[in-house]
Amino acid sequence: MRLLVTGGCGFIGSNYIHYLFRNHEDVTVINLDKLTYAGNPLNLESIEKAHGGTRYFFEKADIADPEAVRRILEAHPVDAIVNFAAETHVDRSINDPAPFVTTNVLGTQNLLTMARSAGVERFVHVSTDEVYGDLGPDDPRFTEATPLKPSSPYSASKAAADMLAYAYYRTYGFPVCITRCSNNYGPYQFPEKLIPLMFRLASTDAPLPVYGDGMNVRDWIHVDDHCHGVHLTLLKGTPGKAYNFGGNAERTNMDVVRTMLSLLGKPESLITYVKDRPGHDRRYAMDYAMARRELGYEPRYTFEQGLADTVAWYQANGAWMESVESGAYREFMNTWYGDRR
Ligand code: NAD
Ligand code: DAU
Repeated sequence: MRLLVTGGCGFIGSNYIHYLFRNHEDVTVINLDKLTYAGNPLNLESIEKAHGGTRYFFEKADIADPEAVRRILEAHPVDAIVNFAAETHVDRSINDPAPFVTTNVLGTQNLLTMARSAGVERFVHVSTDEVYGDLGPDDPRFTEATPLKPSSPYSASKAAADMLAYAYYRTYGFPVCITRCSNNYGPYQFPEKLIPLMFRLASTDAPLPVYGDGMNVRDWIHVDDHCHGVHLTLLKGTPGKAYNFGGNAERTNMDVVRTMLSLLGKPESLITYVKDRPGHDRRYAMDYAMARRELGYEPRYTFEQGLADTVAWYQANGAWMESVESGAYREFMNTWYGDRR
C-alpha cells in the first residue's frame, strides 16, 4: 500500500510511521509535514536511514497549500491518506486561535479537495475526544452518538474539520473515516503536553505546574494502541463513520503526576498548583465498543506499564528531549506559565 501520512514528524504521526514499518512490509510512506515548532524529522532518522528514497519519502509542505499538495500527490500517487497534521496544543489555541483555524479547518478542507481530485481511495481523518466537550464525574462515557460540543479554540477547529469530513462523504461520496481518540502518551511527545513536560521539569527538580485543583480526568492511551486503532480504521472502517478509541485508563492529573514522581524517585513537594486553564474540560472518557465490535480493536497497554515504559524511553533519550527545544518553545512556555503564577 502507498500511503500519504501528514504530520508524520509530530508525536503520533511519527509513531504511526514506525508502527507501519514494524508491522507491514508492503508499505510505502510519503510523509508530508510543515515542520512547525512541533515537528522533528529526527523522530524518523532510523526509517530515513533504512528506507529513504525507496519506501520512505519526506516532503516539507503545508496541508493548507493547494499547489504544494497537488504537486506532491502528482509526484507520489497514493492509495490512501492518513491526516495527523494539526495544531494540537489547547493552551496555544487559547493564546492564539488563528493558526488552528488555518491548519485544522482550511488545511483539512484543502487536503480533502486535493485527495478527491487525485482519486485517492481512502482517507482517515485523525480527530480527538475533545470534540465532544467534557463530562461530569458520573456521566456515561462519550460514544460516537454524543453531540459535538467543543470547549476550546483547538477542539472547535477539530470539530469543524470533522464536519467537513462528513460533508465530503455525504456530498461527494468521498470515502472518509474519522478517528476520535483520548489523551495519548509515549515516545516522541513534545514537552508542552502534561507527561513529557512533567518528566522534563521533574528531572531538573523544577516545580511541576498543576492547573486548578488537579482533579481533571483524562482517559490515557499508549500511542501504539492509538496507531493500531488508526490502522484498523484504514483497513476496515466503514466510510462516513467516526470511531472512538480510548485506553480504559481514567486518571486525575494529580494521579498521573504523582505516579511519575514515584517512577522518577522525586518528592511530591515539587507539585505546584497554578491558575487554571480557561474553559478547562473536567473529564474525558471514551466508550470504544463500536471499534471493538467492527474493527476488533482493544488497547494492549495498561497505563502503569505504558507510563513506566515511556518514562524509561525519555530517560534513555535525553538528547532527543534537548533537540526539540527552540526559541518558539521557550517563548510560549515563558509567557503562558508566567501568566499562571
Ligand atoms: P503534534 O503537535 O505532536 O504534531 C503535529 C505535526 O503536524 C507536527 O509534525 C507539525 O509540524 C505538523 N503540522 C502542523 N501544521 C501543519 C500543516 N499546516 N501542514 C503540514 N504539517 C503540519 O501532534 P500530535 O499530538 O501528534 O497529534 C496528531 C493528531 O492527532 C492531531 O490531529 C491531533 O488533533 C490528534 N490527536 C492527538 C491526541 C494527543 O493526545 N496528542 C489525541 C487525539 C487526537
Ligand atoms: O484528549 C485528546 C487531546 O489530548 C488531544 O486532542 C490534544 O491534542 C492533546 O494536547 C491533549 O489535550 P489535553 O489538553 O488534554 O492535554 P495536555 O497534555 O495539555 O493536558 C492534560 C491535562 O493536564 C489537562 O487537564 C491540563 C493539565 N495540565 C497540562 C499542562 C500542560 C496541567 O495541569 N499542567 C500543565 O502544565
